[in-house]
Amino acid sequence: MKVSVIIPTYNERDNLGELFERIDRALNGRDYEIIVVDDDSPDGTWELALELGERYPVRVIRRVGEKGLSSAVIRGFKEASGDVFVVMDADLQHPPEKIPELVGAIEGGADVAIGSRYVHGGRVRNWYWYRKLISKGAILIGRLALPKIRDVKDPVSGFFALRREVIAGAELNPVGFKILMEVLIKGHYLEVVEVPFTFGLRRAGESKLSGRTMWNYLRHVLRLMKWEGELDRLIKFSVVGASGILVNEGFLWAFVTFPGWDKILANVAATELAILNNFAWNDIWTFRDVRGKPLPNRLLNFHLAAFTGAVVQWMVYAGLILFGMNYLIANLVGIGFSFIVRFLFNRHVTWG
Ligand code: GDD
Ligand code: MN
Repeated sequence: MKVSVIIPTYNERDNLGELFERIDRALNGRDYEIIVVDDDSPDGTWELALELGERYPVRVIRRVGEKGLSSAVIRGFKEASGDVFVVMDADLQHPPEKIPELVGAIEGGADVAIGSRYVHGGRVRNWYWYRKLISKGAILIGRLALPKIRDVKDPVSGFFALRREVIAGAELNPVGFKILMEVLIKGHYLEVVEVPFTFGLRRAGESKLSGRTMWNYLRHVLRLMKWEGELDRLIKFSVVGASGILVNEGFLWAFVTFPGWDKILANVAATELAILNNFAWNDIWTFRDVRGKPLPNRLLNFHLAAFTGAVVQWMVYAGLILFGMNYLIANLVGIGFSFIVRFLFNRHVTWG
C-alpha cells in the first residue's frame, strides 16, 4: 500500500529538515510520498520543501491567498495518490516514528487509525493541569453531543491515518475546525482504532492555533450536530418538554378541581402523567429512529432520566443560592442543567 503523508504548514521552515529525515527513516523501504500544503509562508517553508524534494519524495502545494489548517488538509487529500493517507503536523509534536504503527493498523483492517493522547499509553508532555482539563472537557462535549464518536477518546487529534475510501465523496467542510472530527462524522468507515503516542513539544517556531480556538471548536461541534440531525432532536425534545408543562398544569388543575384531590397528591399524579406524555412523544418522534432497547426498558430509563434531572436541578439551585445568587435565577440555571442532563441521559442511555 502506498502511503501519502499530508503535512499542512505555515512558517515551519526550521522543522522541515528533521521532519523529513525522520519520516524517511520511519518509512524506509516503503512506497510513500510527502505532500506539503503550505499557505505561502513568509519564512519560505514551501521553498525549502521544494529544495528538500531532491532528497525525499516530496510534493509541494503552495497556496496563495488561501489560509486554514482544515482546508489545507482537504487539499492534501485531493492531491494524494496513496492508498493510505497520514495527516500530521510539521512541528514534530507528532513523532514520525509512530507512522508505521498507524499504517500497520490500516493494513490490519482498520479504516481509521488515530494517534491518540488519551488512550492507555498515550500522553501529553508539559501541559499544565488546566490545559489538560480544557482539552479533555472539549473532547467530552464533542463525544456527548455527537453519539457517533462517543467511543473515540481523542477525536480532535491532528495525527491520524485513513484508507482513501473513507473520505471518497465525503462533503468535508473546509472551515470545519478539527479535521479529524469532520472525517469521523462525514466519512465512510467501520473500524476505528486508537494508537497511543506522546504529544511532544514543538521543536521550533510557534503555535498558530490559539485565541478563538475554543469558541470555534464549539461552533464546529454545533455544525456537526446539525449535520447529524442531533440539533433537530434537541429541538424536538424541547417542544415535547413544553407540551409536558401543559399536561402537568392541566391535570394538576383538573385533579384539584374535580375529584378535589389533595394538592400534593394531585401534583404527583400530574407529574407522572406529564412524564408519560413526554415519553410517548419522544419515543414516536424525537428518538423514533434509535429505539434499540425494549419498551419497558426505555420507559424505566426515561423515568430515571427525569429523576436524575430533578436531582441535578435541585443541587444546582441549592449550590447557587448558597453562593448568594438570586433564587429565581438560580432556579432557571438549575432547569437549564436539568434539561441538558435529561437530554444526554435519554440520548445515550434510554435511546442509546
Ligand atoms: N497550511 C496551513 N495553513 N497550515 C497550518 C495553518 C494554516 O492556516 N495553521 C496551522 N498550520 C499547520 C502548522 O504549520 C502545523 O504544521 C500544524 O498545522 C499544526 O499547527 P500548530 O500551530 O502546531 O497547532 P497546535 O500544536 O496548537 O495544535 C495541534 O494539536 C491539536 C491537539 O491539541 C494540531 O494538530 C491540532 O489539529 C490538534 O487538534
Ligand atoms: Mn503544534
